[in-house]
Amino acid sequence: MKVKNKAWGGRFKNAQSKQFLEYGASVGFDQKLAFFDVAQNTAHTLALAKAKIISRAECLKITKGLEGILRELAEGRFVFSADDEDVHMNIERRLREKIGPVAGKLHTGRSRNDQVATDTRLYVRDACRKITGLLRGLRTAFVFQAEKTVDGFMPGYTHLQQAQPIRIAHWFLAYHEMFLRDEARFLSTEKSADVMPLGSGALAGNNFGIDRRFTADLLGFSTLSQNSIDGVSDRDFASEFCFAVSTLFVHLSRLAEDLIIYSSSEFGSVVLPDALCTGSSIMPQKKNPDLLELFRGKAGRTTGNLVNLLVLQKGLPLAYNKDMQEDKIPLFDSAEQALSSLPLAVELVKGIKFNEKILAKRLRNGYLTAVDLADFLVLKGMPFRSAHHLVGEIVSECEGGGIPLAEIKLDALRKKSALFDASVKSYLDPTLSPDRKKGDGSTARGEVLKQIKRLKKALRAK
Ligand code: ARG
Repeated sequence: MKVKNKAWGGRFKNAQSKQFLEYGASVGFDQKLAFFDVAQNTAHTLALAKAKIISRAECLKITKGLEGILRELAEGRFVFSADDEDVHMNIERRLREKIGPVAGKLHTGRSRNDQVATDTRLYVRDACRKITGLLRGLRTAFVFQAEKTVDGFMPGYTHLQQAQPIRIAHWFLAYHEMFLRDEARFLSTEKSADVMPLGSGALAGNNFGIDRRFTADLLGFSTLSQNSIDGVSDRDFASEFCFAVSTLFVHLSRLAEDLIIYSSSEFGSVVLPDALCTGSSIMPQKKNPDLLELFRGKAGRTTGNLVNLLVLQKGLPLAYNKDMQEDKIPLFDSAEQALSSLPLAVELVKGIKFNEKILAKRLRNGYLTAVDLADFLVLKGMPFRSAHHLVGEIVSECEGGGIPLAEIKLDALRKKSALFDASVKSYLDPTLSPDRKKGDGSTARGEVLKQIKRLKKALRAK
C-alpha cells in the first residue's frame, strides 16, 4: 500500500515493509470491538455536532453511514481488511467508501488511544453484564439442587479423607457461595469499566471543547476519566476482569475436581449426566467427564490470560504504548471462555445425581462420627483433649477389628470410659450428626433450610 493511502501516511516518505504492516495489524482480533466502535463513533459524531464542529447535515450523513455499517456488521457482510490495520481504521475506511470525504471529520478531537480505551471498556462492561446474568442462572441451579437434597447425607472431606457427615445440600450451597462472590466481583468490575476515557485524545485532551458528559450519557457511562494521561493508559479494569474470570474458573475447577472424584468407580457417589460426558474410542466401559476436565484446564488458560495482561502492563511508561494492542487477546479469550462455559455449568449442576444408597452405606461403614463421640464425653465432663485421645484409641481398635463406629457395642465403649451410657447410640448415627451442629452456616437441617429460603428470596427479588 502507498504511504499516502495510510491514515497516518502524511509524515512518511517511504512505504512501510509489507511484512511489518501485516505483523502490526490487529484487525484479526480487535474486530470483536466493531459494534462498540460504531456506537462510540455515533455518540462522538453527535457530540461533534453539538459543539458545532460539524454541521447538522454532516452529522446526519455520518450517522446514516454508520447505521449502514451497523447493518453490514449485523448481517455479516462487513469485509475487514488487514490493509486497514485495526477495527477503527476499517470502519472509518468503510464510512469513507459509503459517504465520501466527510467521513474524514469523524475522527476530529479524538485519537485511537482514547477510542480503543473506550471500546474496550464498553466490551468489558457488556461481558460483565452477560456473565452476571449467567452466574445468577448457575446460582439458581445450585439452590434448586440444595432444595432437593436437604435430607440426603454424604461424607464431608478434609485432606480428601472422610471427615464428618454433611447434608448433600450443604455441599451444593458451598459452591453457591463461591459463585455468589464471583457475581459480586463481576458487578464490581463492571463499575471499574464504567468510566469514559473518550475526550482524552492521544494523552493530553482534545482541542475542541467536546461535551464529554454528553457523549458519556449517550454511551451509558456513569463517570468520566479525570486525567487524560491515565484515561488512555489505564487497563486496570481489564486486569480486574481477567482476575474475576480466572477466579471463576478456579471455582469451576474445584467443582470439577470434586465431581471427577465422586463419579469415579472407586467413589461411585455421583452420576454425571450422559449429555455432558464422552465415551472412549477404545474402552467401551468408559464414561469420561470431559466437560469437567475442560473446566479444570481452562482454569490454567484463563489464569494465564491474567498473568499475560499484568506482565504486559508492568513497567510500561505513560501513556499509550503499542504493547497495549496485545491486551485484547487475553481479555477476549477470558470473556469467551466464561461466556461459553457458564451455560454448560448450569446444565451440569442441574444434572448432578448423588447416589444416596452408596452414600448411606459409606457413612455407616466409616468413622465419621468420631468427633460426635468425643463431644459426648465432653458433655459428660471430660476435657476435649482427653476425649479426643480416647476416641482415637476406640477408632484404632474398631479399625483393627473391621467394625464401623456405628456398630460398636455399649459394653466395649464402657470398657474405655464409664461416662458412656445408652444415650451414646444417637451420637454414633451419622445421619443424626449434622443436626447436632449449632450456629449460622452449619450443616444442620434448620440452618440449611434457612439458607435456601433466604437465597430463593434473593434470587426472586432481583
Ligand atoms: N489498534 C490499536 C490498539 O488496539 C489502536 C490504538 C492505536 N494507537 C496508536 N497510537 N497507534 O491498541
